[in-house]
This record gives sequence, C-alpha cells and structure tokens, in this order.
Amino acid sequence: MIGLSLLGPEGRFFVELILAFAAAVGSILVRRGSRSFLQPGLTMCAIGLLCDAVSGPQLSLPMEWKYLASAIGLVLLSWGIIKLLLDSAAEVAHRRRTHFSTIFKDLLTIVLYTIIVMAVLRMDFRVDPTSLLASTAVVAVVVGLALQELLGNIFSGLTLQLGKPFSPGDWVQSGNYVGRVQGIGWRSTAVVTRRNEKLEIPNLTIAKDVLINYSNGIVASELSIGLSYEAPPNYVREVIERTLRDVPGIMQVPQPEIVTWEYGDSSITYHIKYWFRDYADSERLRDAVNRSLWYSLKRNSIEIPFPIRTLKLSRQSPNTAADEAFEREVIGDMRQVDFLRNLDDEELRILLPGVTVKKFGAGEVIVREGDNGDALYMIRSGTVEVVAAGRDGKAVHIADLKHPAFFGEMALMTGEPRTATVRARTDAELIEVSRDGFVELFKKHPEAVAQIGEVIALRMTERRELINAAVGDVAREQTNWLLSKMRMVFNLASSYGSVR
Ligand code: CMP
Repeated sequence: MIGLSLLGPEGRFFVELILAFAAAVGSILVRRGSRSFLQPGLTMCAIGLLCDAVSGPQLSLPMEWKYLASAIGLVLLSWGIIKLLLDSAAEVAHRRRTHFSTIFKDLLTIVLYTIIVMAVLRMDFRVDPTSLLASTAVVAVVVGLALQELLGNIFSGLTLQLGKPFSPGDWVQSGNYVGRVQGIGWRSTAVVTRRNEKLEIPNLTIAKDVLINYSNGIVASELSIGLSYEAPPNYVREVIERTLRDVPGIMQVPQPEIVTWEYGDSSITYHIKYWFRDYADSERLRDAVNRSLWYSLKRNSIEIPFPIRTLKLSRQSPNTAADEAFEREVIGDMRQVDFLRNLDDEELRILLPGVTVKKFGAGEVIVREGDNGDALYMIRSGTVEVVAAGRDGKAVHIADLKHPAFFGEMALMTGEPRTATVRARTDAELIEVSRDGFVELFKKHPEAVAQIGEVIALRMTERRELINAAVGDVAREQTNWLLSKMRMVFNLASSYGSVR
C-alpha cells in the first residue's frame, strides 16, 4: 500500500500497525475541542490501516479474507484521507467566514469515493467498472426520471450555494415566507421565522421565486400617517424629523425621508421612510416609531384625525368644569415642588399661562444635552432618567427623578444650553412651565430665586462629580455665578436672592 511495500512484509506490517495506532489515538484526542472535525477521517484511516496490516503474511487467514481485508483497507484509508482534506478545507473556509458549499463538498466526496471504489474493484477484483457503469446507466435514467424533483432541488441548492444570493444568518423573503436563513441543505433551505417556526423551503421553490434579501447592509421601512389639515406641512415634517432623531436604532445617515403624499378626505397623508441596520429590529422599530409619533404629535398639537363625526362632537362640548378641576389639580402638583411650596394659589396662577401638560412615552428624549431651552418640567407621573456625556463621550447616568421632582431649571434659569439629556424611563406626564411665568413670579418672590439657585448649584456639583470632571471646591463661586446669571436672565436687582 502506497509505497509501504518497499519496507518488505515485516516492516510494512509494523509501520501500518504503528500508523493505525497513531491515527486511533489522534481520533480519540481530537474528539472534543476545536479539531473535532478531524475525528471521522482519522478513525477511517485507523481502521483502513489495520485492515491492510491484517491482510499481510504475518497472520494465517484464508486467502479470500486477506483479499477482502486489503481491499477494505485501501478503500477506507483513501476515504479517510479525502475526508480529512475536505473537512479541513471546510473548516478553514468557516474560520475565515467564507461559505463552503456543503452540497458541493458532498458531491465531490461522492465522486471521489466512487473513483476509489472503482479503482479497487479493477485492481483487486478484476471487475471492469465501465461495464458496471453501462449496466447501471439504464437504471440511472429510470431513477433519474423518478427523482426529477429531488434532483432539481439538489441542483438548485448547489446553484444557491455557489451563486450566494444569501448566506446563513441573512433575513430573506421567498414567496410569502420571511425568516432568517439557518442553512442550505440538499433538498431544502432551512429558514426560521419571527415566530420561531422552522421552515424547510424546497430549493427549487426559492430558485424559481423572486427572492428578497434584507441583510444587505442597511434596510428601510416605510409607513404612512394621516394628519390634520390644520398643521402646516413644514411644521409637521420638522416634528416628525425630531421624533425620528430620538428613536434609538434609526440611522441619521441616510436621513429619514418625510414626503407629503396626498390630500385625503379628512387628513393629509405623509409617507415616512427610515433606515436601520438589522432587519430583525424592523418590528420593534416600527412600534417605537408609531408610539413616539403619537406622543410627539399630541404634544405639538398636530392632530391624527378621527372620523369627522368624532371631530364635530368634541368641538361642540367644551368642558369648562373639567378644565377648572384640571387647573386646580395642576396647581396642587406645582405646590409640591419645594421652591414653590410657600406660594398660594393666586401666586401659582401667575405661572398658568405658560403651563402645558405633556405626555412622553417610555424612551423618548425630553430635553437634550447642548440644546437651548427655556422651559422647566415638573413630574406629575412616571420616572425620567438624567444622563450626561462623560469625559470619554460615553453617557453617564446622573439620576432618576420622580414626582414631585423637577428638571430643566438650569437652562431656564441661566440661559445656558441644557447640561444633560433627560429621557422618559416609563411613560411620563410632565408640567412644562415656560420662562415668561417665572419672570413675574420671581419679582414677587425673590426668596424662590435663592432656593432654586441652591438646587442648581447642588446638582451641578453632583453632575460634575459623576462625569468625572475636575472638581475643585467651587460651590460658592458657582452659586455666585449662577445668581448673577439668573439676575441677568430675569432682570432682577442685584440684592435679590443672596445665598448664605
Ligand atoms: P438643564 O440643564 O436645563 O437640562 C438638563 C437637566 O438635568 C438639568 O437642567 C437638571 O434639571 C437636570 N440635572 C442635571 N444634573 C442633575 C443632577 N445631578 N441631579 C438631578 N438632575 C440633574
């Protein structure tokens, strides 16, 4: 066998035994771990070498048995070597993240195995394989006709693997089926749907149908929404753009597209297109976009019109009693905020013209670090999270705030940009108070300036500590800076709001 005969019968016997032993040990050693793909090949080689060794003159076996053992040995050893080579090639391709067609590998294996068997038949048993082929050709035609569909699937699978319109892990749509590709088999391609159903789609069906591959770098989703005729389209675009900017996962480059599509019976239809990376996120993002749109459209007084009947009904019955009750409720909420605690109803009413109650959905950004802002927010319900960019640019969690906390006071009071981003952790209802109301209030109640000034100074120090900025003992200095800023913004005399 393969040059071993040069060693003579004795030498060949021992070398084959040693090699068989080595292959068997190797096969056991690689059983677990990263080289386990070598095990079947090594086992075949070990058995092949053993069979060939026992066919030698050292053992007294009947001649026919020796012939058989030698033939089996040669076939198994050759198969083992082929298997080792093909499995190694597949593993290298896998590690380099390229795809090695399994169908191609299987076909190559079958062809090479058949050649080996035929060679052994010819050399050891004097059987002419061509006559065998001729006699099987007729059978092959008959079988081929019967297995036409199966063969179609196999060749379609081969085309899919070589043409690579998709790879395992890609999201695809074929016909009505959408899912993530698990693998391409001989007969079918395994696809797992969003509901975790495993589909075996025949390769022939995939090859015939239009195939959509969603894993092409980035992918877009589109949705339409009908909005009130009262809202100017440019304003609507601005609000939708701002809303989409705050939905995590939506790409800003390429930019979302908002198209004023059609003037309908009761609303203007807008088409919205946004881009994202992973098709697996498409449903989550659609939900996030639709939810955020509801909240932000409502906050910005852009109506999603109901049927006309509902519109008329709501216009006919302004509910003043309910409005008054709501006003009292809001005043009650405002009084719970510490720096407004000592004010009576009339004084708090000063703020009311600048008050709007706004709802934010979980995850929505309420104020963004670096933006200008002239409103303060009091929390009626829900939890918000304050985060600020740390030294390395990463977001640092500063605080979670709940009713009756307030935020947004720093930009409002100092006229400086927002010092942090505040995002709704849960659905939250907030009282937004504009700067105008405070101008009048602070004139009447200068002590409130000092109170809120202290809160700001404290929060600033805390924020600085958390984002790891250099903190010297600058608290008093900071407070004085704050007060002078606030006096400037609110046009107060310099005696107002002195700090202990
Ligand atoms: P402003 O800078 O207008 O916008 C971001 C807001 O986050 C800020 O006002 C404060 O209301 C709030 N904020 C900043 N630092 C803290 C902190 N340390 N604790 C609580 N809230 C804070």
